[in-house]
Amino acid sequence: MTFLELAKKRYSVRSYKNIPVEDDKLKQVLEAGRVAPSAVNFQPLHFIVFRDEEMKKKVADTYEIGAWIYEAPVIIAVCGDHSKAWRRPDGKGHCDIDAAIAADHMTLAAAELGLGTCWICNFDTRALHKLLRLPPHVEVIVLLPLGYPADQGDPERHATKRKKMEEIVHWDTFNR
Ligand SMILES: Cc1cc2nc3c(=O)[nH]c(=O)nc-3n(C[C@H](O)[C@H](O)[C@H](O)COP(=O)(O)O)c2cc1C
Repeated sequence: MTFLELAKKRYSVRSYKNIPVEDDKLKQVLEAGRVAPSAVNFQPLHFIVFRDEEMKKKVADTYEIGAWIYEAPVIIAVCGDHSKAWRRPDGKGHCDIDAAIAADHMTLAAAELGLGTCWICNFDTRALHKLLRLPPHVEVIVLLPLGYPADQGDPERHATKRKKMEEIVHWDTFNR
């Protein structure tokens, strides 16, 4: 499988089979997150893995329209420590970018292993922060349910549901 084939294989899985994820596969997904690059290599991330049913339920409850994420046998919370992330001289913190790269590595590693994931950011961040007793400077940036998909992605969706190349690629200046 080429990288582009893998990138197109990944899709948002919102329905999961009731079978566990093997430890070895879970570790490979986490390893893909661990090796992700981060600004100045500051590595401000933590991954909290939920497999306990009660904890998964509590985490899922912080996502109002997302009871379905509880179906996944594993949920990974990608957390960023804003106090440990690189800050550009103009003040822009790069924690979210670092978290996004790691999360993307994990979603692609999962897809390669036949596992499904879905980026979830629309949770109640305060409720989740409280539930996990995180320090004030640590934030859950992405939740990733992980498991075997119970549905299938639409292989044509990149042709129909993504902007065309000419709409997003610019050559030499923005206006061309
Ligand atoms: C940063 C980010 C946040 C997202 N948050 C949610 C979310 O809270 N709930 C959800 O169901 N999907 C969420 N998604 C999934 C997107 O809706 C999905 O990636 C997009 O529609 C493209 O579909 P695909 O992933 O199947 O290619 C999110 C995706 C990204 C990249």
